[in-house]
Amino acid sequence: MEELFKERLDTVFTRRGITTHRRIRRLLQKHNVSINGNRILESGFRINLESDKIFIDGKQKILAPDIFLMMNKCRGTICSTKDSGLYRTVYSLIPESYFEYARKNSLQKIHTVGRLDTDTEGLLIFTTNGDFSHSLAAPNFHVKKTYFVQLEIPETKERQQEFIKNFSAGILVPPEKNEKEFFSKPSVIKWNSPDSCFLTITEGKFHQIKRMFAAMGNKVAFLKRTAIGELQLDKTLLPGQLREISQNELPLLFKSEGTTPKKNSELQFPGE
Ligand code: URA
Repeated sequence: MEELFKERLDTVFTRRGITTHRRIRRLLQKHNVSINGNRILESGFRINLESDKIFIDGKQKILAPDIFLMMNKCRGTICSTKDSGLYRTVYSLIPESYFEYARKNSLQKIHTVGRLDTDTEGLLIFTTNGDFSHSLAAPNFHVKKTYFVQLEIPETKERQQEFIKNFSAGILVPPEKNEKEFFSKPSVIKWNSPDSCFLTITEGKFHQIKRMFAAMGNKVAFLKRTAIGELQLDKTLLPGQLREISQNELPLLFKSEGTTPKKNSELQFPGE
C-alpha cells in the first residue's frame, strides 16, 4: 500500500525544479542524493514525500506534501475545469489557498479522481498526485465505489432477488450516446427499501449505474456516492463542502473488505 503513495524521484525532482529530466542522471552521479540515509543512483527510485528524508550533498530538501481532499459534491456542479455557463465547476468550491499552495510548491494541478455526473452527489476526491489518482482510477486495482441509489419504480421482493443475482453475475449494458455496450463486472446490491438500495461497483464507465438500472427496466431518480474503498464520505460535510484527507485515511481508499454497508443504521441517507 505504501508503494501507491510513492512517486519516481526523477518525476518529483523535475516537477519541483530541482533538476531537468536530461540532467537527473548527472545529478545522481556527481552529487550525493540520499533517501533515508541511503545513496540513490537510480532515477526511477520511488519516494514518499510524506515520510522519506531527502538529502542532497548533506543538505535536507523539504518538499511540500501533495494535496488530498474529499468533497461532498452537490447536484448541479460539473467535474470539468471549465464552467459550462449553465453549471458551476466543482473546482469553484475549492478555496483559493489550495491552488496557491500547489502553484507555490510546483505541485501538479489539483484534479479530481474520476468524475461524477452533474446530477450526482457525494464523495469526490481531489489530489495533486498524478500517480495516486491514476492508481485509484485504474481498472486493474478494482477499487470499490459504493453509491446510494433512489429508484423511480419500486421493485417486488422477487425482482430484488433478480437484481442481486444479475448484478453479481454481470449484465449486458446497452450503448449510450457514443459509448459502446459492455458487460458489467460483478457488483453487489443491498436493498434498503423497494425503491432504494446501495450498489458497489469496481468500474467507472460513462453513466454506469444509470445504465445498469435502465438495462434492468428501472430508472435512477437520485444517485449519491457514499464510499470509495473503505473510506466513507464524511457525514459532517454539507453538499459542496470539503476537507483534507489524512495520511491515515488514504490507504482506506484501496481497501476492499467491508465496502458494502453492513448495517442499515450505519448508512447515510440523502438529506440526513
Ligand atoms: N454512475 C452513474 O450513472 N453516474 C455517476 O455519476 C456515477 C456512476
